Amino acid sequence: MFKEEELEKISEARLKYEEEVKKTVQKYPERKSTFTTGGGVPVERLYTPENIKDLDYTEDLGFPGDYPYTRGVQPTMYRGRFWTMRQYAGYASAEESNERYKYLLQQGQTGLSVAFDLPTQIGYDSDHPMAQGEVGKVGVAIDSLEDMEILFDGIPLDKVSTSMTINAPASILLAMYIAVGEKQNVPADKLSGTIQNDILKEYIARGTYIFPPKPSMRLITDIFEFCSKHVPKWNTISISGYHIREAGSTAVQEVAFTLADGIAYVEAAVKKGLDPNVFGRRLSFFFNSHNDFLEEIAKFRAARRLWAKIMKERFGVTNPNAQKLRFHTQTAGCTLTAQQPENNIIRVTIQALAAVLGGTQSLHTNSFDEALALPTEESVRIALRTQQIIAYESGVTNTVDPLAGSYYLEWLTNEIERRAQEYIDKIDEMGGMLVAIEKGYVQQQIQDSAYAYQRAIEKGEQIVVGVNKFQIEEKGTSRKILRVDPSMAEKQIARLKALKESRDNVKVKEALEEIRKTANDESANLMPKILEAVKVYATLGEICDVLREEFGEYRESIIL
Ligand code: 3HC
Repeated sequence: MFKEEELEKISEARLKYEEEVKKTVQKYPERKSTFTTGGGVPVERLYTPENIKDLDYTEDLGFPGDYPYTRGVQPTMYRGRFWTMRQYAGYASAEESNERYKYLLQQGQTGLSVAFDLPTQIGYDSDHPMAQGEVGKVGVAIDSLEDMEILFDGIPLDKVSTSMTINAPASILLAMYIAVGEKQNVPADKLSGTIQNDILKEYIARGTYIFPPKPSMRLITDIFEFCSKHVPKWNTISISGYHIREAGSTAVQEVAFTLADGIAYVEAAVKKGLDPNVFGRRLSFFFNSHNDFLEEIAKFRAARRLWAKIMKERFGVTNPNAQKLRFHTQTAGCTLTAQQPENNIIRVTIQALAAVLGGTQSLHTNSFDEALALPTEESVRIALRTQQIIAYESGVTNTVDPLAGSYYLEWLTNEIERRAQEYIDKIDEMGGMLVAIEKGYVQQQIQDSAYAYQRAIEKGEQIVVGVNKFQIEEKGTSRKILRVDPSMAEKQIARLKALKESRDNVKVKEALEEIRKTANDESANLMPKILEAVKVYATLGEICDVLREEFGEYRESIIL
């Protein structure tokens, strides 16, 4: 990218600069002997064209919307359409969550994102002993199609895209969503949204798994196949690095392990006979946006380029839309502090700005009180306004990928890609991501990074404002925080009981037996049978119980 003589002139001028540095540091020593990014990548004092002298614009950057998509997946990016403002929300019963969704849409958010409670996420109905104390706590309680109808009451599913953060029982919630669409006279091929459907990161970092890997991969790729045919606008998976990062990984590990998960899903779908040029179009991703502003921007750009190369070179994908890494971002929950919670508004702003400068397609901004509880209407409004101010007032959306060409940013983008590729090569040598997870390699890498980061905070090397520096005496405040009414659990259980008495239990039994039969026929797709079952109001727990009986349950191996 730079002429030889230009580089020679720079290296001569550098000698003078180094002299100046020597003189300056004698008088003003630098505050650290070595500097690194938040993720531990060594950072030099200064970057010049010498650091990116081999950068080839068309090969390494390309134009936005063009391979390798480093500068973005759309030719016009936010000049054409802002990212989707999509706040992760849901708590208590379907009624309360429906109210919150309507509030957020009224405040200008442009996509929905459903948070389910833990019993729903691990396949138990609200009346199951395992659900006790958790019904409606960290998300909305969904037991049946009846709850889903209430959840989306008055929300036209042909006008909004909905993300559902659900993994092990993803096929059941997707089926319920399709069934709600039908009740609203919205055909499946008009529905748009995303199902998280990413079980590998649950084994690695989040824990809401149910079934062992083999049947889990079957359920996941059944969704790929079913949606390619019947729900073409639906993103069939959100391959997530967010939770890997929240568990303590570095930025490089977040990219590496997320894309390695992606490779495992593509391989499983290809093995099933699916075409990566088709299903690859509807793979999507989900990343964290952490504190190191420039490292996060470089991380997103590196991930986009790396995934494009993987799809083109490793899987022979030629469809440009199946080479594009489209992603959602959530600002880093693990950086929120309970101390001086208003400081979190500034953290979230910086993290959100990094996601935008990194080219995100969809964004959730954390609320400042989320280290304390689920967000109130006021705190979630501030979080949404943060996005709107960046979009409408900051000017960064007026041109595409404005930081491109920065010597440091392009060097760091290359460095993150190179380091991530090293991890992917190692995982390939081990036999792929499923083997690496079963061996505990991925989990160990994350734990080591988490430990190092925590030690740095405890030693005061990593400053957390308000926590290990600039603390204040925090008296009990009158700050309002959201509390879920514990009596909602009884109401939810009563509603479930009434449903089981009013539905046609013969039809339910037949539908469940159909699922059981199909579960034992590996060549068959389970989605159609699950769709029939939810339509006769079989519950999520009843369907998962049948699948547990046929597939068994995953037990994490103890890493010694
Ligand atoms: N020019 C032309 N077209 C454009 C454009 C532009 N500048 N910008 C966008 N478009 C088009 C797109 O191509 C798309 O059309 P298509 O569907 O026909 O291709 C349409 O406009 C919508 O744009 P996007 O697809 O970019 O935006 P979406 O918001 O619909 O999708 C996504 C974004 C990342 C692909 C999708 O997968 C998504 O929304 N994911 C969200 C995932 C999510 O919210 N997860 C929450 C997880 S919370 C969690 O895990 C729990 C807790 O533990 C944290």
